[in-house]
Amino acid sequence: MHEPRVKPKNPCFGSGPTAKRPGWSLSALEGALVGRSHRSAAAKARLLEVCDRSRRILGIPEDYEIAIMPGSDTGAFEAAMWNLLGPRGVDCLVFESFGEGWLRDVERELAIADVRALRAPYGELPDLSRVDPDRDLVFCWNGTTSGVCVPDGDWIAAERAGLVLCDATSAVFAVELPWDKLDVATWSWQKVLGGEAQHGMLVLSPRALARLRSWSPPRPLPKLFRLASGGRVSEGVFAGETINTPSMLAVEDALDGLRWAEAIGGLPALVRRCRANLAVLERLVAENESFGFLAARPEIRSPTSVCLTIRDPAVARLDEAGKQSFVKAMTRLLEEAKVAFDIASYREAPPGLRIWCGATVETEDLEALAPWLVFALETVKRQLPSG
Ligand SMILES: Cc1ncc(COP(=O)(O)O)c(C=O)c1O
Repeated sequence: MHEPRVKPKNPCFGSGPTAKRPGWSLSALEGALVGRSHRSAAAKARLLEVCDRSRRILGIPEDYEIAIMPGSDTGAFEAAMWNLLGPRGVDCLVFESFGEGWLRDVERELAIADVRALRAPYGELPDLSRVDPDRDLVFCWNGTTSGVCVPDGDWIAAERAGLVLCDATSAVFAVELPWDKLDVATWSWQKVLGGEAQHGMLVLSPRALARLRSWSPPRPLPKLFRLASGGRVSEGVFAGETINTPSMLAVEDALDGLRWAEAIGGLPALVRRCRANLAVLERLVAENESFGFLAARPEIRSPTSVCLTIRDPAVARLDEAGKQSFVKAMTRLLEEAKVAFDIASYREAPPGLRIWCGATVETEDLEALAPWLVFALETVKRQLPSG
């Protein structure tokens, strides 16, 4: 097989930080309020603008509060867990590495005694009917390391006593989220809108805010995570007054991403772009038996972090280390050719490729990538010892 003639214009297919939006350049940041206090009226207005534009695009209800938190998605989600969890038993959905990490923290760091881990292997979802609405729930909407996404929120009870804490970082701006079913949602800027890292978004429902007011966690809370003190919610955090200093350069970039999202048609357009991107890889798999999806069932397949397995018999018979080296050789070839960066599967996930299909990725770039994946596989296969 010959080397394909066309290369993707943008080889950034990593799952975070992801590709910048089409047409992005550093000039997008020219108006950034650098050198200004983040407490100035002008800077606070920009911080609030991030929250307001996010609310508008995502359809977040008016009675939900939105904050910008330190420490990216991890910071936002940890803050939620540390402030809110404890008064009820907790169910954790564990179907890939990030959910595993949240479970570990709930059990070991928060030391909550009554915890149920509802598990599934990579590529599958746990039995969602086992989720108990009387208990709090911790889960990732989209498992970034397995390419598995919950199909909807129908399995979450409308009438529930527990709070639903959703790490939505690789789902938000890519799928419709049912806000009435989520009490906490978090994400970072460097996912579907291609922003810069280190700031996390935190959305709290009225029920989560009521928990914040009525319950004092029996654990020390670092200032960075503190959302309430002595039963009083830190209202300023939800009014553009960040706990500590944000980067106004990153804020400007987040605003650029949000404005772009609005300009192309808002959430419906973002969702359509992700689905069109996934469709390119679905065609590749349909036409090429050497590739498969880690999420075999289409209804739970992520439209953002798309995880491919290599099903070619010559690779399938290798042991784990052999498969890892095979993938490494493929990704090295693609990186050296400047065709694709950062597409090896996550270090704890089964060996394979993970290709970001979020809205900032151009469909034509994925179309150009697909033949290169076949070429890389065939090339590395020829280098395997025969037998
Ligand atoms: C589902 C999920 N949770 C948490 C994280 C960690 O995010 P961050 O690096 O923004 O803290 C990631 C990063 O990829 C993720 O995909």
